[in-house]
Amino acid sequence: MNDKQRVAHYAAQQVQNGMIVGLGTGSTANFFIEELARRQSEESLKFKVVSSSVVSANKAKQLGLALLGIEHIDGLDLYVDGADEVAPDLTLLKGRGYDLVREKLMAKAADSFLVLIDASKRVKRIGENFPIPIEVSPFAWRLVQRSVAAIGGHGNLRQTPNQDGLVVTSHGSLVLDVAFEPNLDGKTLNDRLNAIPGIIEHGIFSGLTRAVFCGHDGKIDEQWA
Ligand code: 5RP
Repeated sequence: MNDKQRVAHYAAQQVQNGMIVGLGTGSTANFFIEELARRQSEESLKFKVVSSSVVSANKAKQLGLALLGIEHIDGLDLYVDGADEVAPDLTLLKGRGYDLVREKLMAKAADSFLVLIDASKRVKRIGENFPIPIEVSPFAWRLVQRSVAAIGGHGNLRQTPNQDGLVVTSHGSLVLDVAFEPNLDGKTLNDRLNAIPGIIEHGIFSGLTRAVFCGHDGKIDEQWA
């Protein structure tokens, strides 16, 4: 079992009968979904799930989990997802999988948002390893790019992996990947990006995390907010 699997199995133990559970997106979230399916079939655990992406929704359906549409819920007990970076104050960078809007909605709405990582995701500052993904309407991207440049951010629209077009999110937005000066901490950047008109959502998750479970060398470190 690798570190991602280990934390995913550990987080799945937090799910109790009757819960509504938010499913994240990515390889770690996939391990969590698989472990939930195992607990449902082997332990008769009863719960419902809401997905942050089409990919995770399809996986949940294939494994026989009871899936609710996000438009039908007014809250959830638990949301469990991975992250691309985690700073010491538990600010996160997310969204390489680019379904930012649902991810942040669920992180905010959940009674408890648990983040699962391995040690490679720990950083001193948000933006250390990846640019910040910023979701924009197609008509707004140039003006947002200009506003972002005014606060020290430089970047461009995300291309598809084989570079033959632009990435479009499941609800028709484009994604700007923007690198910022290293002197801007994640929380400051979060506040500045929140104030720019035309940004639908961005990948900095500040003040939303209840706990981070980090798998390393066969063990799990827990950091609670
Ligand atoms: C998707 C995310 C993922 O949680 C993040 O990319 C981590 O992925 P993985 O678990 O595959 O390392 O934010 O938008």
